[in-house]
Amino acid sequence: MTIKPLIILPDPILRQVSKPVERVDSEIRKLAEDMLETMYDAPGIGLAAVQIGVMRRMLVIDLSKEGDPKEPQVFINPEILASSDDRSVYEEGCLSIPDYYAEVERPATVTVKYLDANGVEQTVEADGLLATCLQHEIDHLNGVLFIDHISRLKRDMVIKKFTKAARTKATI
Ligand code: NI
Repeated sequence: MTIKPLIILPDPILRQVSKPVERVDSEIRKLAEDMLETMYDAPGIGLAAVQIGVMRRMLVIDLSKEGDPKEPQVFINPEILASSDDRSVYEEGCLSIPDYYAEVERPATVTVKYLDANGVEQTVEADGLLATCLQHEIDHLNGVLFIDHISRLKRDMVIKKFTKAARTKATI
């Protein structure tokens, strides 16, 4: 397992649409392990493949509490089949937008179809934090970031801040 460097805002890679995984083979399982390792190291509770620069429709999530046994979950080619009308609000953050948090409103429950790490099709009806996390990560696969769900004023401020930081880093 390898910890990979994270892709950070405003890298244009984050705006690209990821491609479906054609076959769940050892290469894909290795990628899932690298993604989990990178997520645990950060640390974070969710990571999409694009965040380590791999344009594949794949994400990992672990919502276990600190100190409890790990509960890694791998979602390949996830697809939202249904979303509830009722909504919930969570304060979200993103490993590609470090140290920035904002409240985001999303459907409270989603039904998601996906392939697990063995290539077996699964369907989950998710609510609570898992519902929010799945929607946040699936957005990544479509080039969408959580800051796209906040006010334009706040979004522009965040993008400006990160663009400036990237430019400073580049000149040093
Ligand atoms: Ni994210």
